[in-house]
Amino acid sequence: MLKLLGVPIAASAHAAEIDQMTALVHWLMLVLFVGWGAFFIFALIRFRKGANPKASYVGAKGKLAKSTEVAVALIEVILLVFYAIPAWAKRVTNFPGGNDAVIVRVVGEQFAWNIQYPGKDGKFGRTDPTLVSADNPLGLDRRDPDAKDDIVSINNLNLPINRPVLVHLTSKDVIHSFGVYELRVKQDAVPGLEMPVWFVPTREGQWDIACSQLCGLGHYRMRGFVNVQSAAEYDKWMAEQVKALTP
Ligand code: CUA
Repeated sequence: MLKLLGVPIAASAHAAEIDQMTALVHWLMLVLFVGWGAFFIFALIRFRKGANPKASYVGAKGKLAKSTEVAVALIEVILLVFYAIPAWAKRVTNFPGGNDAVIVRVVGEQFAWNIQYPGKDGKFGRTDPTLVSADNPLGLDRRDPDAKDDIVSINNLNLPINRPVLVHLTSKDVIHSFGVYELRVKQDAVPGLEMPVWFVPTREGQWDIACSQLCGLGHYRMRGFVNVQSAAEYDKWMAEQVKALTP
């Protein structure tokens, strides 16, 4: 059913779970749409003026209406309690850490995505709004020891396949939204807040980072890319970045 709806390919470990839920919700909505539609047509014919010159003030009686209502509510509760809440709970706990995890900062601005890797020391260098300039959009303070090995990039988030990724997401100016459909990830980037977002990419390829909040005149062109690479490709790219840093 999801293929029919044109759902993007699934490129992360938790995508199947989200897709299953989306499919279930759509099936329920389809049944409701057909059911209520049929009932509406039935009511139009059955209670037409011609056949019922005098209105009934009592109205319809019967158990079917009530039980249908209860059944629909029950199915919705099941979807919420057994699918939606557990799926969400996993997204907001068990954040990846340790050596295997890739930890990166993503900072939205009008109208680009700034990427910051902490480098070998695993620590993000200090950033300072007064240092922000055209060639230093993050305002990274290179005098800070933690910042010396930080890798920065604009609109290109390179990630290795099959490793957990933790994105520290924030914004410099207005609210943006980090939407990567193939990874089934979407999270608002809010100035002053750092939101953790995590996922495991399971498919190599280039996926759009589509800003998913109307953030200004250039919203439509606020597009970045997630490049999911093999471990070797990613290491090679990272080595090149490190080399470019050394004067
Ligand atoms: Cu940033 Cu829309």
